[in-house]
Amino acid sequence: MTKLVFIEPSGNRREITATVGESVMQAATANGVVGIDAECGGSCMCATCHCLVIEPPNPLPDMQSDEADTLEFTAEDMKDNSRLTCQVTVTPELEGIVFQVIGR
Ligand code: FES
Repeated sequence: MTKLVFIEPSGNRREITATVGESVMQAATANGVVGIDAECGGSCMCATCHCLVIEPPNPLPDMQSDEADTLEFTAEDMKDNSRLTCQVTVTPELEGIVFQVIGR
């Protein structure tokens, strides 16, 4: 299990435990994190799982071109630390990572 932290759009801080191998989006939605709607179910199409990585304990793997394309064309408020959480796999190295949920 890996501890993930989310700052919800309201500013509420949520700490959850996630299973290695699932996506960050799956862990967030299973734990009711507010602001991650995941309308496409993790197909990298909607950007409603968009978060900013604000405290990375370790560098995240580079994003693939489909994640970069969806962020560029779909996400509002894209920044250098933007990620689509459906495309980030939970690993032990993510322990303590903090995501700012963008929400809508
Ligand atoms: S859930 Fe739709 S892009 Fe991530």
